[in-house]
Amino acid sequence: MKFRALLTTLALALLAGPLAADETELGAKMEKMGGAFRALRRQISDAAKNADSLAKLAVIRQNAEASVKLEPAMAKDVPAAKKQEFVARYQAEMKKFLELVGKVEAALKANNNAEAATLVNQLADAQKAGHKEFKKEDKKK
Ligand code: HEM
Repeated sequence: MKFRALLTTLALALLAGPLAADETELGAKMEKMGGAFRALRRQISDAAKNADSLAKLAVIRQNAEASVKLEPAMAKDVPAAKKQEFVARYQAEMKKFLELVGKVEAALKANNNAEAATLVNQLADAQKAGHKEFKKEDKKK
């Protein structure tokens, strides 16, 4: 019985191995932002959920702040001479994204859900633009 459990663990580790290798630290932060953002978009107009929406924004903020310090996987494909500029541009975009997060937080604290909803659409635009410029083609999702 113990042996079978060991075999199962080994088999699972083999299956999980390649997936884990494909995952980047930045990708993991992004996944966490993704879960919070999906929920936020659904409830941003609902004033009764503002406290929870602020909690979702805190998750997004925390992971975006950590993301500023990481490099996109794509940086490895950029020629050495342009790499520094590429990473600086990525960091500037992520900081702009964080400023927008601050504006959504302020709108929710003021119970201005219409304004918050407009700003959340801008977060989605920033996500789209950020992915187009800094995310590798094969890393969809
Ligand atoms: C609401 C905002 C955002 C959400 C919900 C989001 C979500 C995601 C998700 C789900 C992934 C795939 C993760 C994986 O590979 O497992 C991803 C990847 C990525 N995102 Fe975002 N993202 C957002 C904003 C941004 C912004 C603003 C930028 C750039 C300024 C950005 C840059 C990237 C990059 C570079 C990757 C690829 C990961 C890597 O290179 O290691 N994202 N994002």
